[in-house]
Amino acid sequence: MEKVKIALLGLGNVGRGVWMILDSNKEEIVKRSGYDVEISKILVRDKDKERGVDVPKELITTDFNEILNDESIKIVIEVMGGIEPARDYMIKSMEKGKHIVTANKMLLATGGDELFEMADSKGVMFQYEASVAGGIPIIQGINESLTANKIKEMYGIINGTTNYILSKMELENLSFEEALKGATEKGYAEADPTSDIEGFDAQYKLAILSSLAFGTKIDVENVYREGITHIQSIDMEYAKEFKMAVKLLAIVKDVNGKLEMRVHPTMIPRNHPLANVYDSFNSVLVKGNAVGDLMFYGRGAGDLPTGSAVVSDMINILKLGIHSDNIQSVVKNNLWDKKIRSIEGVHSKYYIRTSVVDEPGVLRDITGILGDHDISLRSVIQKGQNKKGELVTLVLVTHRAKEIQIIDAIDEIYELRTVKKIDNIIRIEEFEEE
Ligand code: NAP
Ligand code: HSE
Repeated sequence: MEKVKIALLGLGNVGRGVWMILDSNKEEIVKRSGYDVEISKILVRDKDKERGVDVPKELITTDFNEILNDESIKIVIEVMGGIEPARDYMIKSMEKGKHIVTANKMLLATGGDELFEMADSKGVMFQYEASVAGGIPIIQGINESLTANKIKEMYGIINGTTNYILSKMELENLSFEEALKGATEKGYAEADPTSDIEGFDAQYKLAILSSLAFGTKIDVENVYREGITHIQSIDMEYAKEFKMAVKLLAIVKDVNGKLEMRVHPTMIPRNHPLANVYDSFNSVLVKGNAVGDLMFYGRGAGDLPTGSAVVSDMINILKLGIHSDNIQSVVKNNLWDKKIRSIEGVHSKYYIRTSVVDEPGVLRDITGILGDHDISLRSVIQKGQNKKGELVTLVLVTHRAKEIQIIDAIDEIYELRTVKKIDNIIRIEEFEEE
């Protein structure tokens, strides 16, 4: 059996998972790929770091040239993250005819075209299943299994860290900080968790998914983004009263040929399957015009789930044939030119939590402004002591409105003497067709 040498760039959470899977599932991998796979070099920054896996010391290097100049290394697995030097190392590896597997959504979403074009021009394979939703085969699903469909909409919980944090806040009353610490310890969070909690990671992933599902190039800046740092336990309690759950939802819709892409905390009905996706699990609901509704569910982060996607990509490369000179690009993101619908044009329902002075006429003034902007109310809850001079919480839930109407109405509501603060605004999604 032919031996094939692989190099790993990075031995952190994902690299460790890849190592463990190659070690524990060796027989399956050899039989399924038809090759005797061997990791022959691993690039890290710090050679002496304790890694938690039993890797022979002689495999570890801090010199990328040892990998680049070794012609016997056929596949480079990039699991180091960040833009540079990951981009440079992948470009140089492809120039030398090495195939690539990567989990780097940040780089793919912001500079993927250069990498795809390089792979095409050098006739090498470029696989990136682990870049979206960890162990869930969503890239393969869209690129291969759903190509008969016109995809109309997708809704995803595609960041494990934020879903873990929101789950812990909702179910165990943990503080945001305690929950984030747990996600970092479990290896779900990015090296800089700002990327998770401020929604950048989900924004990158939604850009990748949208580009594949709609066969179009996506500028990541066109994906509207909000993180979860403004979500408080009190919002989750109100959500419960409204029979809703709060999730960081990634949404893409094709509305009459215009793409609407957004990542933001969203209240969704408690009885919707996405509301029951907890912990580091991810889920993507795809609506295709032939297949109907299709849901993917699985672990979206962590060493073994992500390693599962990376090693499967590596096996695919081996099965497709590392010696083949007829390698076809699988990336078809320039088939259509789609216009973008900006966030101001989005239609949604809204939860608005305010702090107001408790005196007659407050609600009348607020509803008057909403009415002037053609926004109708679905429900109102007021909580707090009716003590002179003290603030009370007034929560409003609107019917469907256009975002620009809400923005304009909120500007006017802020001007009211009795409204001291708009504490939070969360969009509500009830999965109705437009
Ligand atoms: P990580 O734990 O921070 O590991 C990064 C590894 O890369 C470390 O071993 C580090 O070396 C090495 N590295 C970083 N910069 C380097 C450089 N300039 N030169 C040499 N080595 C370098 O990160 P991770 O969580 O494994 O994530 C890796 C990638 O997978 C990222 O793109 C991430 O977005 C993606 N991803 C992660 C997950 C997850 O669940 N964690 C899931 C899907 C995708 P040292 O150890 O010596 O510092
Ligand atoms: N930090 C990412 C997450 C890793 O929490 O989802 C998986 O892409």
